[in-house]
Amino acid sequence: MLAVENLDVFYGDVQALDGVSLEIAEGAIVAIVGANGAGKTTLIRALAGMQRRLRGRISFRGVDIAGWPSHRVCNLGIGQVAEGRQVFPTLSVEENLDIGAMLPRARADRAKNRDRAFALFPRLAERAGQPAGTLSGGEQQMLAIARCLMGAPQLIMFDEPSLGLAPAIARGVLDTIGALNREGITCVVVEQNVALSLKLASRAYVLENGRITLTGSGAELLADDRVRSAYLGL
Ligand SMILES: Nc1ncnc2c1ncn2[C@@H]1O[C@H](COP(=O)(O)OP(=O)(O)O)[C@@H](O)[C@H]1O
Ligand SMILES: [Mg+2]
Repeated sequence: MLAVENLDVFYGDVQALDGVSLEIAEGAIVAIVGANGAGKTTLIRALAGMQRRLRGRISFRGVDIAGWPSHRVCNLGIGQVAEGRQVFPTLSVEENLDIGAMLPRARADRAKNRDRAFALFPRLAERAGQPAGTLSGGEQQMLAIARCLMGAPQLIMFDEPSLGLAPAIARGVLDTIGALNREGITCVVVEQNVALSLKLASRAYVLENGRITLTGSGAELLADDRVRSAYLGL
């Protein structure tokens, strides 16, 4: 579905990604594992068209989208749930969802997608008129996911979706990712809870200092001694 070849990304003179190549198969859950500062957010932002000082190829279903602006990338069906959730705090839940439906690809299905989002997250339906800033952290994460779903994505990239959430709520967020995947949405997950993300993932990549150093199935990486000592504390 998405193939990245030799991706280099720069911040000024600093190179944040160096020759990154990876593949995201249709229907997969792909985990990206790495320490703070490894380049995980930079990778997601580059794929989303938000980090455009880059070299290399990013092809989505055969179309090279490297350098495309984010609104065009989104409109192909590539969605992102950004780190820190980024809901609009003074807008209501429903208004936040409306913003997610502004993509040309999703406008006509706004009502249908909103009903689906509310069915997935009944808490949001109960709070539809409430300012997003008054929601709990877990509810704001639901809203960030629901807003992304309003754009009818076929691929969603989740950046640290459980960060700052209580363990039970965090598990619920990862369960939601599994459920969306079973509905046919391809997922990329960057998750501080490495063990959970590897259990969920059909494929995983380890990113160190801007380079991919290891790849395998989620189960293979869970059993890998380097991953166990560096990321699982075992
Ligand atoms: N806006 C920026 N300007 C300069 N350097 C940045 C910027 N954002 C990130 N970096 C640097 O790029 C590297 C990768 O960062 P990031 O992608 O946020 O890593 P991760 O998400 O894995 O923690 C880090 O060295 C970070 O300091
Ligand atoms: Mg990050």
